[in-house]
Amino acid sequence: MILLCLHVRIVVTSLALFYYAGIANASPSLPRARSSSRQVEFPAVDVPSHLNPYPDKPRLTFGPSGTFKLTIFSDLHYGENPWDDWGPQQDVNSARLMRGVLAVEKPDYVVLNGDLITGENTFRENSTTLIDRIVVPLNEAKIPFSSTHGNHDNQRNITHLEEIRREQLDSSLSYTRTAPPGIGGEGGEGTYWVPIYEKATDLTPALILWFFDSRGGWSPGSTSVPLPDWVDASVAGWIKRETAAMEAGWDSVERRERGALAFVHIPPHAIESVQKTLSTTRNPGLNADTLSQGSTQATSDPSSAGNDQPFWDALNTNIKNLHAVISGHDHGNEWCAREPSKDVIFCFDKHSGYGGYSSSGWGHGVRNIVFSSANPASGLETWILLEDGQTRARVTLDGNYDR
Ligand SMILES: *[C@@H]1O[C@H](CO)[C@@H](O)[C@H](O)[C@H]1NC(C)=O
Ligand SMILES: *[C@@H]1O[C@H](CO)[C@@H](O)[C@H](O)[C@H]1NC(C)=O
Repeated sequence: MILLCLHVRIVVTSLALFYYAGIANASPSLPRARSSSRQVEFPAVDVPSHLNPYPDKPRLTFGPSGTFKLTIFSDLHYGENPWDDWGPQQDVNSARLMRGVLAVEKPDYVVLNGDLITGENTFRENSTTLIDRIVVPLNEAKIPFSSTHGNHDNQRNITHLEEIRREQLDSSLSYTRTAPPGIGGEGGEGTYWVPIYEKATDLTPALILWFFDSRGGWSPGSTSVPLPDWVDASVAGWIKRETAAMEAGWDSVERRERGALAFVHIPPHAIESVQKTLSTTRNPGLNADTLSQGSTQATSDPSSAGNDQPFWDALNTNIKNLHAVISGHDHGNEWCAREPSKDVIFCFDKHSGYGGYSSSGWGHGVRNIVFSSANPASGLETWILLEDGQTRARVTLDGNYDR
């Protein structure tokens, strides 16, 4: 209920369906995109296969100038109101935003940070074809990417797992994976990590991108059984095992420190209290969505507050050099802030999709993040870029930020 209230405007329209004829035939082309010249094949390296999760894909690396740039598209909300003119036009606008941003920014990697689709407006027979459309600008620009998934991606006619499988079919540039069986809980399959190397010949990565599935929405086939809206406690053990395997496997071949960056669609519960301490100088950016029930993890049921604590503890205890945790979900927020209990930086990204709730003046855009070097001790630059080219809320995320 709460989650639906938060996203009011979307669904309320009508459940009497009008079929929008024009769009149903628009079948997308599904190119097998080529890798860029920067990416080379994995060298034959003696690390456990578990630590080489993409044996068939190009190895991702920092650029020739030593930097690594990410662009985050969040809350794309494709497929809204297919029965009227307004809905399909929002997807046209979102695709235009993606193409425009990718052409100008030319990032090394793209993250789609959840709510790719407004699942409650989709049809059983064709819901995943929306993924085909979302990946077109990425395939055209030949930029590697991966996704997290949100509460709107688990609905009666769509699931996180279906979106992941479709994305993997649609694009060889997708690095999205699923968690091992038993990890993540029902509807929470999208938990994985992606290694980024400084140079393609390095034995061990310089940066790990972590992706967590905060579930939410409804159980498959249902509009009455809600899924928990927090990262499942089973993920805590998985984080411990993965980080232990990395230390054992990588550090034995080549001792080095790694940086980390984490993505999860729904903000961790601990972020709710951070909002009360924001300052416009230290924490610039839109702050228009008040965090409360439904806005952070573990809050769909008031008695469940704290259910993401095992995840939050394991994340902050076991993942070293964690530069920031990045979430979407709350379309009116853009700020970064330091979460004091774990001494970790949290950032909202930016509502990119023209679908999904919005308000006048919020605009649509992306969050960019640039690592100036592969040294995990050096800070990173981040800012919000709007579709019209305006930038705002630029901050340097380092050890001094927001103290
Ligand atoms: C799915 O099918 C419905 C009903 O035919 C149609 O209205 C809708 O536009 C289709 N959606 C997509 C993404 O093709
Ligand atoms: C799901 O898909 C079915 C079959 O296309 C459709 O009748 C129904 O309206 C869709 N949406 C929901 C929420 O059930």
